[in-house]
Amino acid sequence: MKTHNWGILGTGGIAHKFSRALSLLDNARLYSVGSRSINKASAFAAEFGFQKHFGSYEEFLADPDLEIVYVSSPHSLHLEHTLLALHNGKHVICEKPMSINASEVKEMSDAATTRGLFLMEALWPPFQPSYIKAEEILSGGRMGKLLHMRGKFGFIAPYDPQLRTYNIEFGGGSLLDIGIYPIMDILRYMGVPDLIEAAAVLSPTGADESTSMIFKYNDGRLAEAYCSFGTMAGTSTEFNCEKGNLILSRGRDRSQHLLIEYSNDTEERIFTPPAQGYQYEAVEVMNCIDKGLKQSPVVPLSFTLSLARILDSVRKQAGIRYPGRDK
Ligand SMILES: NC(=O)c1ccc[n+]([C@@H]2O[C@H](COP(=O)([O-])OP(=O)(O)OC[C@H]3O[C@@H](n4cnc5c(N)ncnc54)[C@H](OP(=O)(O)O)[C@@H]3O)[C@@H](O)[C@H]2O)c1
Repeated sequence: MKTHNWGILGTGGIAHKFSRALSLLDNARLYSVGSRSINKASAFAAEFGFQKHFGSYEEFLADPDLEIVYVSSPHSLHLEHTLLALHNGKHVICEKPMSINASEVKEMSDAATTRGLFLMEALWPPFQPSYIKAEEILSGGRMGKLLHMRGKFGFIAPYDPQLRTYNIEFGGGSLLDIGIYPIMDILRYMGVPDLIEAAAVLSPTGADESTSMIFKYNDGRLAEAYCSFGTMAGTSTEFNCEKGNLILSRGRDRSQHLLIEYSNDTEERIFTPPAQGYQYEAVEVMNCIDKGLKQSPVVPLSFTLSLARILDSVRKQAGIRYPGRDK
């Protein structure tokens, strides 16, 4: 088994969780850390045991032995940082959302393709055991046809215009931060909707505090999604099928729940992967690279682009604006 040299770009909250997960994998070498601050890079490297650390992203990416970069900066910087990594010949897994709009996502995807490098959006749910089980049940036939979905992701994020979550310069707002997950589920299982309707409640910065969406399909199916920094809606996705329902949800302890409901039978499965399951997306990256693949068959760039186009469409409908990046 080949060991891959991983580097972390940005030392924020999710980079900590991802690095903890990465440290569980035998074929992932915790190689280097890039930060805007040498002190932060040094502390982060020491905390997880990375071999090298750098006080600028440029120096970090110039290292010829660095192979795979995890981009974990705020959304609005994913474009710049991913392109920088690709230009330096690195494979990239970039945090969600891949970027602020679909034309930026296309630019990133084209850059990876032109350079023959691997690129994937860090959409971790499809790699989780609960999702894999749900997919197995959906495709097994006993549930019948999937007719309707309802997904939500909400928690209270107290308003602070400086924080990444509400700062419009960083692409703040619940839609790009957490609404992306129920939309991802609906896109994954029901496809691209034919009609989208959406409305948002904006915070004083213009970042959406809450957004509600309805997706309509020409064959008569409907789906709904909701995201919010203002309610404790929780995280769940409901699949309503001809002969039963599946409900995927996340417990407060981050455990993954799958409720399987038939008319005369209900079963609950609980999955508690170590490190919240962030390691599975890293496994996918390394498996793909080992096979010479430039994209993940589970989360291909075409999926990321479709997702970005839906997010653009929701934003236009709901009046959510990102100054200078409203393409
Ligand atoms: N997959 C998930 O479950 C999940 C969960 C949370 C967040 N995320 C995604 O991960 C990304 C980062 O989120 P986070 O919560 O980790 O954010 P965060 O705690 O604010 O960290 C972001 C990091 O980006 C770097 N950065 C580069 N330029 C920056 C700038 N101008 N201002 C601020 N930071 C800058 C900083 O690292 P240095 O100072 O070291 O350079 C900072 O620590 C977001 O796109 C978010 O959507 C994903």
